[in-house]
Amino acid sequence: MSMTVRGLTRAATAGLVAAAALTAAAHSAEAADTLGSAAAGQGRYFGTAVAANHLGEADYTATLDREFSSVTPENEMKWDATEPSRGTFTFGSADRIVDHAQSQGMDVRGHTLVWHSQLPSWVGSLGASDLRIAMNAHINGLMGHYKGEIHSWDVVNEAFQDGGSGARRSSPFQDKLGNGFIEEAFRTARAADPAAKLCYNDYNTDGVNAKSNAVYDMVEDFKSRGVPIDCVGFQSHFNSNSPVPSDYRQNLQRFADLGVDVQITELDIEGSGSAQAADYTKVVEACLAVSRCTGMTVWGVTDKYSWRSGGTPLLFDGNYQEKPAHDAVLSALGGSGDPGDPGDPGDPGDGTLSCTATYTRTADWSSGYNGQVTITAGDEPISSWTTTVTLPAQQSVSSLWNGTPTRSGNVMTVRPSWNGTLAAGASTSFGFTVAKNGSDAAPAVGTCTAS
Ligand code: G3I
Repeated sequence: MSMTVRGLTRAATAGLVAAAALTAAAHSAEAADTLGSAAAGQGRYFGTAVAANHLGEADYTATLDREFSSVTPENEMKWDATEPSRGTFTFGSADRIVDHAQSQGMDVRGHTLVWHSQLPSWVGSLGASDLRIAMNAHINGLMGHYKGEIHSWDVVNEAFQDGGSGARRSSPFQDKLGNGFIEEAFRTARAADPAAKLCYNDYNTDGVNAKSNAVYDMVEDFKSRGVPIDCVGFQSHFNSNSPVPSDYRQNLQRFADLGVDVQITELDIEGSGSAQAADYTKVVEACLAVSRCTGMTVWGVTDKYSWRSGGTPLLFDGNYQEKPAHDAVLSALGGSGDPGDPGDPGDPGDGTLSCTATYTRTADWSSGYNGQVTITAGDEPISSWTTTVTLPAQQSVSSLWNGTPTRSGNVMTVRPSWNGTLAAGASTSFGFTVAKNGSDAAPAVGTCTAS
């Protein structure tokens, strides 16, 4: 789709926002065995960067749809993709991602409006006054098109230099418009879509350092002067040269204390195995410890399409298998794993004791029957178990073996006699003889509890 209009909203014509909200509500009611549902249980979103050209790949889309509650177009909303020549807006690839996200009840982060990179050459050739007009027109063009459909926009991206100076980065905007371009972009953005959260987004600002101090000073200044800013994005691209900072949580918190939300916007951590998993845990725990940390986004679904694919920095490997890092994130979010998926919360080694109780009738005669309950330990060894057997009102138990019953009305609570200790996955059983007294109905066996 190609558009040259300003202010024509997709949502107004398609009525998609309400539908998306309804589906989102359905998502959050699901069991917390995916990243998105577990994060929802913590009041957060869990998102991923998405590339439109992978949406046709079944495994990619299945993993995306199952696990994530928010998407960020990885490249499709950038200036070179959306306004390659002045005044001609091309939204085809970005629309595909937004449409897909909405069909799945996912939120969308907008990335990014004003950035020195992936900037078409025509922008750099403009003089100052024309550049200001073009910058504002670009913001209005994108935000107008997606008005009401984007929960947070990265209004300005990476405007500060790396290193110790805390200076602004050279760019056509900085060089021709000066420091004020950032403020102007935020003011234009607020007017274009008042419902969207407006974020400043950067990298190497994850710990307390000269660069994050410079961003902090800018946000503090914006808040004191009423410049509209709602959130700060911390990209969080980590590897051995740039590890998760020890003051990560503290840094998120000091920004939150300025009165803005914080979001982890492009998380990836190079590495593998338990070391990578431990680093991911640190990041998730830091976000959960900061009440204004509203969500996390990893920078891609699968290692094979990562911008740093050689560093295998994501949660799913190239075959879409969950990595230890995935299980660590799910666990840190309070989620529970899929049965039989090694390493998930609830699997061997996580310390969760469990058992099951199943009933069978082993003998039957006109006035009575024998019942048997088989107790099976879960993934961990157990030293005791408890379950209940509830008899139909007329029936009574005349004897019970291989268990210790306590009776209360027609409910027997049964504990082990000699057979409390069970290896992981091992079974034992207790049996009992019942007088039917005119009722042939089966007893009900309750939940098994292990210790
Ligand atoms: O689409 C073209 C394709 O037609 C061409 O054949 C191919 C040849 O190289 O290039 C393709 O474009 C590439 C594009 O990704 C899509 O794959 C660009 O060369 C490549 O430079 C671009 O890289 C993106 C990078 O931003 C550009 O700066 C990465 O995918 C994207 O993950 C990365 O994301 C950035 C965030 O926006 C901002 N923060 C840092 C982050 C990581 O660099």
